[in-house]
Amino acid sequence: MSVRSPLMTVMINAVQKTAKTLIRDFGEVENLQVSRKGPSDFVTNADLAAEKMLRAELLKARPAYGFLMEESGVVEGEDSSNRWIIDPIDGTTNFLHGLPQWCISLALERDGDVHAGVIYDPIKDELFWGERGAGAFLNNNRRLRVTSRNRLDDCLVATDVPGLGRGNHAGLLADLQKVMGQVAGIRRLGSAALDLAYVAAGRLDAYYEREIKPWDIAAGVLLVREAGGFVTDLQGGKKVLGSTNILAANQAIHGAMLALVGTR
Ligand code: IPD
Repeated sequence: MSVRSPLMTVMINAVQKTAKTLIRDFGEVENLQVSRKGPSDFVTNADLAAEKMLRAELLKARPAYGFLMEESGVVEGEDSSNRWIIDPIDGTTNFLHGLPQWCISLALERDGDVHAGVIYDPIKDELFWGERGAGAFLNNNRRLRVTSRNRLDDCLVATDVPGLGRGNHAGLLADLQKVMGQVAGIRRLGSAALDLAYVAAGRLDAYYEREIKPWDIAAGVLLVREAGGFVTDLQGGKKVLGSTNILAANQAIHGAMLALVGTR
């Protein structure tokens, strides 16, 4: 069994405690689908409450650390080296529609780099976790490793297919057209954090997205790198948290994917 550090224990406890309330909320959302208005206000409140709970748990354990949160933004801490990056529900649209593909994503950024990451899918009870230099794991003991497929035509790739009001649809369709002519399949699963966890776990060979936020990807970037994959932005740069786009892939196909969807 892999050994969890005190830091990892703090992160996992915070995420699993919050997950209990989110599972109850998700059950309620499934009931609310039949109402005319749907569960939209309910989900907004669940998201906010989950973020508040995570923040309270992390503050208890590490009072001086700062925060970057999807819902509440930046809160500076006394310790300027360490900052939690939180997405309380990644895959909110799935959650809202009762689709069981969402997760909590929590990362620790230390001196500008992601130091640790936890992604928890409470519905499937899958906990992806890792710490810089110590590897990435699923649940208690499965070591995560990216795939070694080296031919694009064998590869399964995930990306974003945004709806109304989001993204440059024409540009994204042009990317899709290039990629779909080369790979075994494309998936739009709806949670960037889980897409990255799946690249780390060898379920997907690559994932790319053009308009992404740091809280969607911070934990997943660490997991993919610890699992032996490459993560860059679409210009090939390594500082992905400061970018708005991302490409994560196994080492063998990263270059070929960058040549297809990279921004020159
Ligand atoms: C979204 C999901 C989705 C991605 C979007 C994100 P949210 O995050 O990760 O997969 O394509 O870009 O905004 O809103 O569910 O936290």
